[in-house]
Amino acid sequence: MSTSDNPYQDDHGNHDASIAKQAPSSEIDPTRESGAILDAPGGPFLIGENMTGGYGKSGPDILHDCTISVDKGQIAVIVGPNGAGKSTAMKATFGMLNLRQGHVKLDGKDISALTPQDRVAQGMGFVPQTNNIFTSMSVEENLEMGAFIRTDDYAQTMEQVYDLFPILRDKRNQPAGELSGGQRQQVAVGRALMTQPKVLLLDEPTAGVSPIVMDELFDRIIEVARTGISILMVEQNAKQALEIADKGYVLVQGANAHTGTGQSLLADPEVRKSFLGG
Ligand SMILES: Nc1ncnc2c1ncn2[C@@H]1O[C@H](COP(=O)(O)OP(=O)(O)O)[C@@H](O)[C@H]1O
Ligand SMILES: [Mg+2]
Repeated sequence: MSTSDNPYQDDHGNHDASIAKQAPSSEIDPTRESGAILDAPGGPFLIGENMTGGYGKSGPDILHDCTISVDKGQIAVIVGPNGAGKSTAMKATFGMLNLRQGHVKLDGKDISALTPQDRVAQGMGFVPQTNNIFTSMSVEENLEMGAFIRTDDYAQTMEQVYDLFPILRDKRNQPAGELSGGQRQQVAVGRALMTQPKVLLLDEPTAGVSPIVMDELFDRIIEVARTGISILMVEQNAKQALEIADKGYVLVQGANAHTGTGQSLLADPEVRKSFLGG
């Protein structure tokens, strides 16, 4: 068939990404069932350990023996160049990738065989890097969606989210898509908090916001950690994020390049030169 026979060659059809773009087929089968939870005492509160794997059944490995972890009530930060596999490591920890090797352990249990839904039930909250709110729904509806697995009364949790992010209380009935970038990120974090997670995975929570809004978001994230919730987050604002990190990871090409306390990484001349702009 020559290209001119292709009826879609000159397609002026619908370009709404949500309609025109195929759902990514590269991630794992969302209809699969969970396997068993195994006992795995000791170790950090959450760890994605020695993770090796990529997208799809035959895609190349993106992660190479990659380990990320966070202790109870602490903040761990993952930094590294674009395309290093930071988001992939977060997705793997949340169960969105077929790992060829490695384990994910949470609170003394090996949860490697669980689906993302079942990891939420075990206490994980995940805020992805993109498409992390329902733009046409109101702020409050977004929070209600966040509580989807709860069968008890979540009104008090919603009040806690509004206490943490008061602007969301004022805008509760507005479509989330009308909010500023920083406020949308508050909705995304608030939505994840609605399941009362023990650990929160945040992929670039301050992307696209001003330095002032970034500082405010970091202050709120510290506040969340003080309540005992562990925070594992990817950040492109590397210096500022490492300042508030108990532990930091520099990932390069899907592997651990540097690991240490936030302060030790900030003081490491090699890390400063290569990843923090000197
Ligand atoms: N859904 C996907 N399917 C296939 N490859 C992907 C997918 N998402 C990311 N990748 C690839 O994985 C690598 C790491 O990407 P990513 O984890 O998004 O990096 P980072 O978050 O550090 O910028 C890149 O080479 C990227 O092209
Ligand atoms: Mg990313």
